[in-house]
Amino acid sequence: MATAVCPGSFDPVTVGHLDIITRASKMFDSLIVVVMTNQAKAPAFTEHERAALLKTATAELQNVVVDTYDGLLADYAALQNAAAIVKGLRAVSDFEYEFQMALTNKKLNPRPETIFLPTSAEYMYLSSGIVKQIAMYGGDISGFVPLCVLHDIEKRLKKNAPVKDT
Ligand code: PNS
Repeated sequence: MATAVCPGSFDPVTVGHLDIITRASKMFDSLIVVVMTNQAKAPAFTEHERAALLKTATAELQNVVVDTYDGLLADYAALQNAAAIVKGLRAVSDFEYEFQMALTNKKLNPRPETIFLPTSAEYMYLSSGIVKQIAMYGGDISGFVPLCVLHDIEKRLKKNAPVKDT
């Protein structure tokens, strides 16, 4: 039984994330989507909110569970006995950072292999930061986030003062 983890800050989940999660879920017996802290980003949504949005967005994927973890990805992968860490890659610009993370995680925990899935072409441009910027100025984000969480994301971002772009 092969388990993979799909980590991210998911602040908030986008259709690009859901595409990667859906495709990764077909490659493993079980996939754990784990909401983590990215020290370089100041999140707009709490960890709990991000996980709740992900749970709604992935509800139809039977072998996907959503979790949160405040610690090292390498430790979480060990806790779950994961065979793989799945990350989506949008562009060459993502690669240098992701490669550094993959090698660091391998050093900390040699068991899981990091697998990069290229994003689907239609989501190349998309990021959580872009979604937050558009929503902050009252723009239409319906094409960028899963429909089932659109209202929650809009409501949450509108009721706040401008959020930081991450
Ligand atoms: O969606 P993101 O922001 O690209 O996800 C990055 C994330 C959260 C997966 C990464 O920052 C991470 O692994 N955070 C946990 C702490 C950790 O293990 N850092 C890497 C070793 S320094």
